[in-house]
Amino acid sequence: MNNLQANQERSSLHGQWSSRMTFILAVTGSAIGLGNIWKFPYIAGDNGGGAFVLIYLICIFIIGFPIMVSEIMIGRKGRRNPITSMKILGQEEQGKANWKWVGMIGLSAGFIILSYYSVIAGWTLHYFKMSIFGELSNLDNESAQAIFGQLTDSAVTQLIYHTAFMAITVAIIAKGIKDGLERAVKLMMPGLLFILIILLFYSVFQGDFMAGVNFLLVPDFSKITSQSVLAAMGQAFFTLSLGMGCIVMYGAYLPKNESIIGTTTTIIFCDTLIALLAGLVIFPIVFQFGLKPTDGPGLIFLTLPLAFNEITGGYVFSGLFFILLAFAAITSALSLLEPSVAWMIENKNYTRGKSALIIGALIWLLGFLSIFSFNILSEFTFWKGTLFDNFDYLASNILLPVSGLLFTIFAGWIMKTENSTDELSDVSRYVYNLWRFGARYIAPVGVILVFLNAIGLI
Ligand code: PHE
Repeated sequence: MNNLQANQERSSLHGQWSSRMTFILAVTGSAIGLGNIWKFPYIAGDNGGGAFVLIYLICIFIIGFPIMVSEIMIGRKGRRNPITSMKILGQEEQGKANWKWVGMIGLSAGFIILSYYSVIAGWTLHYFKMSIFGELSNLDNESAQAIFGQLTDSAVTQLIYHTAFMAITVAIIAKGIKDGLERAVKLMMPGLLFILIILLFYSVFQGDFMAGVNFLLVPDFSKITSQSVLAAMGQAFFTLSLGMGCIVMYGAYLPKNESIIGTTTTIIFCDTLIALLAGLVIFPIVFQFGLKPTDGPGLIFLTLPLAFNEITGGYVFSGLFFILLAFAAITSALSLLEPSVAWMIENKNYTRGKSALIIGALIWLLGFLSIFSFNILSEFTFWKGTLFDNFDYLASNILLPVSGLLFTIFAGWIMKTENSTDELSDVSRYVYNLWRFGARYIAPVGVILVFLNAIGLI
């Protein structure tokens, strides 16, 4: 039996997506998350706005696109968790099992990201609760800051919500692909889009819309430094969920007859659209209320409550907004947890429920360090800042690009042409060659240049 036949017979141990639509929803659900709505606005703010956005878009298209295709391809061919898939494929394509390390870097990045992601997602749950109990009414600039300060100062409050968020994520993953993951994304994704559109209307009519548009879309290149280019690339990886194996994992559940290039195009389009829409919702409000776009991680927790406060019944909108932000976070968290859980099921033979519980508990524990970064350990800073800052920097700006780079080198250089052609058999030779050129040259060279530049070598 040759390799190709062996691969065609391999199937996932956890089932498959029931349709092309659910795959797109699940990956888009993974991609659209706190990265789009919470992180993108403040990173863009910190890095000067328009010029940053432009570099970010370039990174998405020339680096993100070929890498996402490569990751889905690897997943679908390997049909296992990212570590095992890389091990099997490395053996088949090159006789080397060492490629499993790429999967390991990815899984560790996912582990670290989920630990702090869940803390921030917990903040959204807390704000949801405050909205519906009317605790966010009659706000002004100072009281909004005070409420946010109280939350970050309290390790206990954050712990409660972090626990709740992890419990929800674990419960969904424990139910498996069809009853857990698919159901969750089918419910949460359409709702998210709906509410963003409502908020956009709000921002057009109530915010300083032109100031927001200028900030987001008019580039000022004098603000661009090598660090902001690195941040743009890191954000492109983060927002597309690349480099941590979650796309590889979701690819493992993709039926063989679905088009990888077609689905990737849709997914990237949706993710970028939502990030820009979120920017167009948030910046006009930021400027309207005299806040600064550089207010850091707290940005949306300060601006949105203030904005909603201005209209009658605003607490309804604010409640909706925060619950939908939580939805966006949950659908991303699912993809962060699934690869490690699949790894445990496949390698330790534990049930899905037990695996989800064990991995979830470990990540939950690690999350304590991020919680403490905002209060008892806030003075404990090194390298990039607090522990929280370091986790985020290490995962987004280093681990994700490194493992994304290796995934794409594997798909572009190591995988035999007949195998990659087979995975992309639905597109023309021209499109295939375009992908291959991107995966072999543009994405790797791009990632390496940004790195060399950021560490000051060029
Ligand atoms: N893409 C998600 C977001 O934008 C975060 C994420 C990163 C999810 C990496 C999975 C893997 O919020």
